[in-house]
Amino acid sequence: MIAIRGPSVIRFSLPNYRADEGPHAMQASATAFEQYSRLQDDDCGARIVAAKKKLGKRAALLAHHYQRADVYRHADLTGDSLKLSRLASQTDAEYIVFCGVHFMAEVADILCKPGQITVLPDMAAGCSMADMASVSKVERAWRELGEVLDPDQHVTPATYINSAADLKAFCGEHGGIVCTSSNAKQILEWSFARREKVLFFPDQHLGRWTGHKMGIPLEEMLVWDPDEPMGGLSVEQVKAARLLLWKGHCSVHQMFQPQHVLKFRNQHPDGLVISHPECKFEVCKLSDYVGSTETIINTIRNAPADTRWLVGTELNLVNRIAEEFKPQGKVIQFMAPLVCMCSTMARIDPQHLAWTLENLAEGRVVNRIKVPAHDAELARVALDRMLAVS
Ligand code: 13P
Ligand code: SF4
Repeated sequence: MIAIRGPSVIRFSLPNYRADEGPHAMQASATAFEQYSRLQDDDCGARIVAAKKKLGKRAALLAHHYQRADVYRHADLTGDSLKLSRLASQTDAEYIVFCGVHFMAEVADILCKPGQITVLPDMAAGCSMADMASVSKVERAWRELGEVLDPDQHVTPATYINSAADLKAFCGEHGGIVCTSSNAKQILEWSFARREKVLFFPDQHLGRWTGHKMGIPLEEMLVWDPDEPMGGLSVEQVKAARLLLWKGHCSVHQMFQPQHVLKFRNQHPDGLVISHPECKFEVCKLSDYVGSTETIINTIRNAPADTRWLVGTELNLVNRIAEEFKPQGKVIQFMAPLVCMCSTMARIDPQHLAWTLENLAEGRVVNRIKVPAHDAELARVALDRMLAVS
């Protein structure tokens, strides 16, 4: 469903190496993966179990809820982005093996303890939404805003956690903050308590929905198009806006449409609808509940037996909970008629996980995620603000 965009692949191509070795080790690891790519999923499953056993408590395997079933079942810890950030900061394991996407592993690297190593089994597991904002574009927006007002006095930059570490660093440096889908309202309240405007990136939908829940009228939330001069806005519009919404979106969640909800309501008047806030505003508005992946799971888990649900989020999660809650008589239906998977997260497959774990068990670190120290320090400021607020 998602086209793998260039930057997701290129930007994350860090070398694989043994800390004390040079390019030979790098080549040895890369060649070794070729052999894994030919393995059957079941064979990989057995090898993952054996490597995990060998590593014991030295490795903690964290998995996001969208992770494919044949990887998710090996996880030690699972969660939404906020929960996984906290878990990464709390584990004492030597290796944090992150089965998610690149920005999540970066957050783990920033929040983990000195000496811990974070790895992402496939460096091509990026997030297409995160790639929709870059630090050069955000810096340009900041300069353009500076033609109208002093942004460091009047605008709080707030980045969704689905963003590269240098954008979190930008927020740390400019009095800003990070949010996730589960704490966005608290974070925006924090932001508005400091300055009268917020520049929110990269997901316009999460920003708009959260602003709406806070009572901000739609006409005071304007889209900032980073490819247009001054975001495509006039000076008067910038002055009048309270929330500037970066023109970004999730390619998976944009597939869910209001007509999918209306059709379900028509067929199942007693059915309930729950969506992720990355869905379009109209879809969120038609939903009974809107929340993060963890909220979606817990809301359905705690609902009465024999209820019927339409769920607007990624397919792996929906399939998993449909099976899990079937014994309670709950019928869980995916919102779109098409397959909407996070294809970048799905790149973390049993082959890459087996390759990563077996290398770690042999003392070879592959696909290490290491945020440069300067960015990590400033990004940590913005992340710590978030963790303190939520
Ligand atoms: P959650 O924080 O709700 O898990 O969302 C992460 C994400 O990328 C959703 O697309
Ligand atoms: Fe990014 Fe969308 Fe995948 Fe979430 S579902 S990780 S926002 S591409």
